[in-house]
Amino acid sequence: MKEETKNTVINIQDLHKGFGENKVLNGFNLQLLEGENLVLMGKSGSGKSVMIKCLVGLMEPDSGKVEVLGREISTMKRQELDELRADIGFLFQGSALYDSMTVRENLEFPLRRHTHKFDLENTDELVLEALNNVGLPHTINMMPAELSGGMQRRVALARALILKPKIIFYDEPTTGLDPITAKEIILLMLDIQKKYKTSSLIITHDVDCARVISNRMILLLDGINYAEGSFEELSASKDPKVMAFFK
Ligand SMILES: Nc1ncnc2c1ncn2[C@@H]1O[C@H](COP(=O)(O)OP(=O)(O)O)[C@@H](O)[C@H]1O
Ligand SMILES: [Mg+2]
Repeated sequence: MKEETKNTVINIQDLHKGFGENKVLNGFNLQLLEGENLVLMGKSGSGKSVMIKCLVGLMEPDSGKVEVLGREISTMKRQELDELRADIGFLFQGSALYDSMTVRENLEFPLRRHTHKFDLENTDELVLEALNNVGLPHTINMMPAELSGGMQRRVALARALILKPKIIFYDEPTTGLDPITAKEIILLMLDIQKKYKTSSLIITHDVDCARVISNRMILLLDGINYAEGSFEELSASKDPKVMAFFK
């Protein structure tokens, strides 16, 4: 069989970002390939969120190149950035559902923000399809407070999927969940990757999550991509700094 050359959907090169004396990213590199699950691990405060903000144009890098879906973020106008964000799904830490809205309204919210991409007449169909993907069609008229933590996370995942994004960012998708629910979420993430061929960037501290989900991993340390490789490669490393991630 002919080997496929995969496209790069995110390309970060030599990214620098600091706040005064605090040099957070100091020549960081990352490539996300089409269809892969890339896990990024880094200690709390190491700059993972700063990197994500640079990726979606919420923060301006001091220097370096940041390209998403073939476009340089720094050259994009506000409206172009908005449109790009419709191609990116987010699953934030926690679930960040709107408490005062029903599940249906929570899922309709991104559709209303990106009307250029979707026709608002068939939202019911899209909402149900997204809820079916996470096994929760019966919750459509419920309020977030009526759902368990794991169900809330799944609804948040459905909301991230509803725009049929090309890329999904997961920020600590299993933090705060019991091990069984965490596993359910991980299996859902794998299903979604298979079904929609999404490219995913997954930020996690959870070694089990990284083992199951990653095609490749990057360790962020001292502002750089300190180590890269498969879970098997990195977890077998004899470098004490790398070993510390797998404790
Ligand atoms: N807007 C900001 N102004 C000043 N410092 C910031 C800002 N955002 C993040 N930082 C600093 O950048 C560092 C990395 O933060 P962050 O990216 O949130 O870490 P994490 O890897 O836990 O997501 C921290 O030292 C934080 O205090
Ligand atoms: Mg963070």
